[in-house]
Amino acid sequence: MDILEAIRHRQSIRAFEKKEVSKDIIDQILLNASFAPSGGNTQPWKIYVLSPEKMKILEQSVLKQLDEGNTEKTDFNIYPPDMPNRFKDHIKACGLLMYDALAIKKDDFEGRLNQLKKNFSFFEAPVGMIVTVDKLADVNGWGHVGHFLQNICLASLSFGLGTCLQESWSMYPQTVKECVDFSDDEILWCGIALGYPDLANPINKYRTSRKSITDLAKYL
Ligand SMILES: Cc1cc2nc3c(=O)[nH]c(=O)nc-3n(C[C@H](O)[C@H](O)[C@H](O)COP(=O)(O)O)c2cc1C
Repeated sequence: MDILEAIRHRQSIRAFEKKEVSKDIIDQILLNASFAPSGGNTQPWKIYVLSPEKMKILEQSVLKQLDEGNTEKTDFNIYPPDMPNRFKDHIKACGLLMYDALAIKKDDFEGRLNQLKKNFSFFEAPVGMIVTVDKLADVNGWGHVGHFLQNICLASLSFGLGTCLQESWSMYPQTVKECVDFSDDEILWCGIALGYPDLANPINKYRTSRKSITDLAKYL
């Protein structure tokens, strides 16, 4: 797949075929993704590929917290505490697209909660991964990890695979740390669901919009 085609073709995939992904393919995706650039080549990322058993334990542990109404102190603000309209509008628009695709109504809080919960089974993907950032990396270092994440998404496409990056895991950093057992030098950033996309599922059938070039770029 041509690079521009891959960039344009990538979309978040939230339903997967029941088909395993071989370890060899996962290795190839991660090897290729590791060629992402980072300042001083610090490579401040780590990735944990979970076994199906670990995925189940993680799902049960997080859902237990969620169902019992327990919250955890997050390591970073997933969204700004005072959300400006320039963020709100986009978040609302992409939420609406997803709920419309699933025919979940605005006031159907249970339907929305159930969709949120699907994050914690990695949307039933065959592969679930957890990505951490080195604690000493500052905001610029987090940006470098973004290159690694995007490489994973794009490399996956060349094997016919789809991905969904999932910040929802960072709502429960302590529970994830207990299960994944990453070191105290790392901060949980996100999860990644990986698998063969179920393209017939309505949740994979819509596309999100983008700002126009005139909105995002200024030629001086
Ligand atoms: C770091 C990061 C975290 C995300 N976390 C979630 C998540 O927890 N759950 C989810 O359904 N989508 C998540 N997304 C997907 C975004 O909603 C999605 O990328 C955005 O709406 C644009 O749509 P597209 O990926 O289909 O182009 C995340 C994306 C990124 C980059």
